[in-house]
Amino acid sequence: MTVPSLTALLDLLSGELRDAAATYTRRLSDMRGYYRDPEAEARLLADDPLIYTYGESFAPEVEGQLRFGSTIIQPGRVGDEYFMTRGHYHARPEAGEVYLALRGHGMLVLDRRDGRGEALELRPGTVAYTPPGCAHRAVNVGDEPFSFFSVWPANAGHDYASIQRDGFSLRVVERNGRPTVIPARSAP
Ligand code: NI
Repeated sequence: MTVPSLTALLDLLSGELRDAAATYTRRLSDMRGYYRDPEAEARLLADDPLIYTYGESFAPEVEGQLRFGSTIIQPGRVGDEYFMTRGHYHARPEAGEVYLALRGHGMLVLDRRDGRGEALELRPGTVAYTPPGCAHRAVNVGDEPFSFFSVWPANAGHDYASIQRDGFSLRVVERNGRPTVIPARSAP
């Protein structure tokens, strides 16, 4: 029987979870169509930049178990839109998530099925809570890697398809050198 990870080493400087049971890499080609400017996306695809990596612990996907992980988002933009994670709802709407920002400058974008969205600023040490029922996406609005640690119920499940279909109601773009939150339906 496989048992949960009881300890792991998290590098607080880089955000890397060194003892992750699984690690994943997302390049721009892994998230085609997520950014609002298709022409900027097409231009960048020639280089296919690394957008983010994450690593997570193992625990059985049953009630009461928790998983934890860390995510490192590279700095950069697709057009005026900052590099970000794909974002997801939890398949179980009663499952929340806690974040601890470690390095860099980021934002956590939350969304609800009724279209009510909000964006929270994350600096090193910020603890942010994603309440049950909210989609969540992290965005790197700084000029260095942005990393955070997170914990969620192991049986939360991940619904990426809703985001792929509907997107978030808010996007984070650069305006006059500053991160700015705009409604997703704004023209590019
Ligand atoms: Ni989650």
